[in-house]
Amino acid sequence: MTNMGKLEGQVALITGAAGGLGQSLAEGFVREGCRLLLSDLDAPRLSRVIDHLRSQGAAVVRGAPADLRSCDQTTALVERVIQEYGHINILVNNAAVSSMRSLWDLTERDWDEILDVNVKGLFFTLQSAARHMVERGSGSIINIASVAGRVGRPTLLHYAASKAAVISITRSAALALAKQRVRVNAIAPGMIDTEMLHDLQSAWNNMSTAEDKSAHNPSPDKVPLGRVAKPQDIVATAVYLASRDSEYMTGQTLNVCGGLVMS
Ligand SMILES: NC(=O)c1ccc[n+]([C@@H]2O[C@H](COP(=O)([O-])OP(=O)(O)OC[C@H]3O[C@@H](n4cnc5c(N)ncnc54)[C@H](O)[C@@H]3O)[C@@H](O)[C@H]2O)c1
Repeated sequence: MTNMGKLEGQVALITGAAGGLGQSLAEGFVREGCRLLLSDLDAPRLSRVIDHLRSQGAAVVRGAPADLRSCDQTTALVERVIQEYGHINILVNNAAVSSMRSLWDLTERDWDEILDVNVKGLFFTLQSAARHMVERGSGSIINIASVAGRVGRPTLLHYAASKAAVISITRSAALALAKQRVRVNAIAPGMIDTEMLHDLQSAWNNMSTAEDKSAHNPSPDKVPLGRVAKPQDIVATAVYLASRDSEYMTGQTLNVCGGLVMS
């Protein structure tokens, strides 16, 4: 008997695929038999990820760089998936940016950057993908949120607000699309061992005042299970949400955070 993957024959678009979690999501989805279109702002890095996946034997992985801040580009990206594969079953909205700032240092530019990528870009990618999914009467959309969207983060105020918006979009879109059998769920990681976390940790080390330092330290000591997540810890949940194993779930945000947050 052949061993069928959980996503055999499915087509997925993964954004932010050149980043730490995105690469692992791509590897995990390939292992489950999924065909992929990977996207990222960073075109050279995206090419390296695709070369690596192909060198590991991934047969059907294509890439399309895009800047999710542009609505034209998010629409074109989803159209590219349809051109390449004829349809789209799964969208993983994974791309995001973060920056550590005190409440006093946050600027208009910081807000625009965070909201344009993490909220606006995520929404318009979802909207474009959902149009095609609704026509077929099925689809699974997975938004990568963060536990920062569930609790206060004094030195990541804008990032936390953007992730609370992701949790909210997940609920509203799930209700809007449920009748057409398009499911929308989210994952809220705590700390994942990627470049984003390393950048936040060094920014925290460089923060000027002792008050800022006591406010938020992205450190593994805070995690009840005693370590930060490996990207693979999040991938298993994403495969679950993408697959029929979760076909009775929509509008949910699953915390995958080692017990850091419990609501
Ligand atoms: N690392 C953590 O500790 C952590 C914790 C909770 C949630 N998350 C979330 O996990 C997801 C993946 O993050 P990561 O840790 O892999 O970070 P990362 O910085 O390694 O990857 C993010 C990717 O998004 C891409 N990107 C940024 N702006 C873009 C744009 N305008 N258009 C297209 N792509 C763009 C970047 O080029 C990068 O490759 C994000 O949604 C992040 O918020 C991360």
